[in-house]
Parts: sequence; C-alpha cells; structure tokens
Amino acid sequence: MIVGICKETFPGERRIALIPEVIPGLTKQSLDVVVEAGAGQEAGILDSAFEAKGARVVPSRSEVFAEADIVVQVRSLGANPEVGRADLELMRSGQTIIGFSEPLSAPELVRDVGNTGVTSFAMELLPRISRAQSMDALSSMATIAGYKAVLLAAGTLPKMFPMFMTAAGTVKPAKVLVVGAGVAGLQAIATAKRLGAVVSAYDIRPAVKEQVESLGARFVEVELEAGKAEGKGGYAKAMTEEFYREQRELMAKVVAGNDVVITTAAVPGKKAPLLVTRDMVKGMAPGSVVVDLAAERGGNCELTKPDETVVEGGVTILGPTNLPSTVPYHASQMYSKNISTLLVHLVKDGMLELNLEDEITREMLLTHGGEVVQPRVRELLGLPEKAAKTEEVTSDG
Ligand code: NAI
Repeated sequence: MIVGICKETFPGERRIALIPEVIPGLTKQSLDVVVEAGAGQEAGILDSAFEAKGARVVPSRSEVFAEADIVVQVRSLGANPEVGRADLELMRSGQTIIGFSEPLSAPELVRDVGNTGVTSFAMELLPRISRAQSMDALSSMATIAGYKAVLLAAGTLPKMFPMFMTAAGTVKPAKVLVVGAGVAGLQAIATAKRLGAVVSAYDIRPAVKEQVESLGARFVEVELEAGKAEGKGGYAKAMTEEFYREQRELMAKVVAGNDVVITTAAVPGKKAPLLVTRDMVKGMAPGSVVVDLAAERGGNCELTKPDETVVEGGVTILGPTNLPSTVPYHASQMYSKNISTLLVHLVKDGMLELNLEDEITREMLLTHGGEVVQPRVRELLGLPEKAAKTEEVTSDG
C-alpha cells in the first residue's frame, strides 16, 4: 500500500504529518511513501531528506491523492473547513484519510467525506488508554502548547520569571497560575518552574493534585463539590452553570494574586468553561498576562479573542489557537510518531484491517463504505445506530 503526505493547506499551518525518520518503520510493514514536493519545507524538512529514506517525491497534491491508498494529514477537512474543501474533489472511493478532523464540532463535514466513499479516521477520537499512548496526538500537541504558552507569557510579562539576588537588588520571582492541569497544564507548570517562577495550579479533578505537587507547584484547593468532576479516561466532565459560577467567585482572589494565568480547562466535545471573567481580569495588576489555550473553543477567559492580543486595564490576554504549528519541527516529529504507530496498528500484512472489536479502530473510524460509522458522530447527525463488523480494506476498496 502507498501512504501519501501532502503539504498542509490550513492557513498558517507549518506542520507535516510524517517526517522522513519514520519511513523505514513503515517500509517494514510493506508501506511505500509518496510526498508532495515542498511538503516539509515549513518544518525545516527538505524533499531530499524524504528521498534519502526511500520516499518518492511527486510534484503536486493531486498526484499524492491519485496514488496514495492512505493519505495522512495534520488537518483533514473538519480541521481545515475552508481550504480543505478542495480535497473533496481529490478523494476517491476506497481511499483512507487520517488526520485531525474536529468530528464532534463539524459532523456535517464528516458526512461530506463519507459521501466520497473514503474511509476516514479522526486523531481526536483516539481513546486515552495506556496501549494507545504513543498514538495520542492530542496529548503530544497539548504538551507543545503548554510549553509554548509559558514562553509567550514570559516574553510578554514586563517582569522576569526567576528570582535574582544581585548587587542591584533582589528581583522577586513571577507568580504563575495554571488553570486546568491536564496534559497542556502539566507541561505549562513544568516549563514555568524551569524558568524559575513560583507556580500554582488548579483543576476540578482532585486526582491531579499529586501530579501538580510532584512538579514542584502548589495545588490550589477550592471548596467545591470537586469529587464529582472526574469523567472518563482522565478527562473532566461538563458541570452545571451554578458550579462554574461558584468556581469563578472562589477563583477571583487566586487569579488577582498572580502575574501570569495560563488557562487550559477543557471538557471533550464541549465549549470551554468560562473561568476568568472580565471582573477577574480587572482585579489583576497592570502588566499581568493571561494566556488562554482554550481560545479555539470559546476561551476560558471572557475577554479572549482567538489569535488576537487584547489589552484591558493594562492586562494582556493572548488567545493563540495553533501553538504546535509555531514549533513545527518537533510538533511534526511527535505527530509523525503518533501517526506512524497508528498506521502500524491498523495495517496487517500490507492491508488496512478494520477490526471493530479493537477499541482504538472503533472509536477513531469516522466513515467507511460511503457512510458515517462513528456512533457519536452519527448521533450528532441524527442517524440511527449501526451494528459493528470487521473487514479488510484493499487499495481499491
Ligand atoms: P486535558 O483534558 O488533558 O486537560 C484539561 C484539564 O482541564 C483537565 O485536567 C480537566 O480536569 C480540567 N478542567 C476542566 N474543567 C475545569 C474547570 N472548570 N476548572 C479547572 N479545571 C478544569 O486537555 P489538554 O490536552 O491538556 O488540552 C487543554 C486545552 O488546550 C484544550 O482546550 C485544547 O483544545 C487546548 N489546546 C490548545 C492548543 C493551542 O495551540 N491553543 C494546542 C493544543 C491544545
């Protein structure tokens, strides 16, 4: 089978889905690789590096789609809803597409892909189970976002992060609060600690207290009915508006005492909870910085504008939506590892195997045989439930 890699077309996207280093591992599984010329340029990867590992470079995107049995992308149609539409013309029945697809936010685009007869997989729907960890692209990208959020904050804050005791006097360390201690939050804590800040963190899942403390940060205890917030697979579940209101009241003082607030609170498939209100921002000292990683899903801060810098009462609020793309080399390396491990998982004897008894395949599979098969997406589209069965897919479907 042939695996195809194209240049990403989402505006500003600099990552690439596969890097040359993983190609030998795919070749061992009887997978050949074709790559669009220049696809890795933004990530600092030359065509010659692909060729050196045995990939074939073809001049155009349409040639990749024409030749490949499996096209791997960072952003498939759902995660690239405007420019990505052009790919619908290039997809052919029986072909497989793997990438981020935002299936729970854009189910109608999943249907459009299904109508082409393409078999598609969404990286977002990988279950968070131990055996799938090395395929977990949401986690690897969140790690990068957590790291980069702290660097952005450090570059914006009119203070230094570490404490200095110098002949010119003592400089106090910056205080950083991380709200939401999942993957991005834990990396933000670790990065802020490394830069010398005094770090505290808060999460509604009490289970993360130990992890926060093991990174050297203080866990902020807020007296809420927190024990009820733990959902499935290490994710939080959605809470009532009354819960969030009470939480905001209790958090106001904590927020005001920090120079930097990094918000990462997320509930899968839901709008981000509003945790930092305009009034809370007003309570912060001028020069303080909020970095809202949830900007793409409505934001954890009331003042956040996606990909814009907002300054209110001297406080700067940043809402970057695609931080992994600002570190394209390592983001591509990590994503590539996730994708190639998934490919090896899905391909048996050079054929794609759709084993719907396997939780990973079953959860990630969006479309097959001309229709949407993912149960949650079917529900969002108002389609009836389907029975599961396993099959092998050849290159022509
Ligand atoms: P995660 O699910 O691992 O962590 C989210 C954490 O938020 C969980 O620990 C959860 O318990 C906590 N949380 C939920 N509701 C809360 C509340 N009301 N108060 C306090 N904590 C609460 O998610 P992950 O992977 O760390 O991603 C975090 C966010 O970062 C997501 O919104 C994701 O979309 C975003 N992200 C942003 C990127 C960017 O470039 N801006 C890139 C990658 C991820």
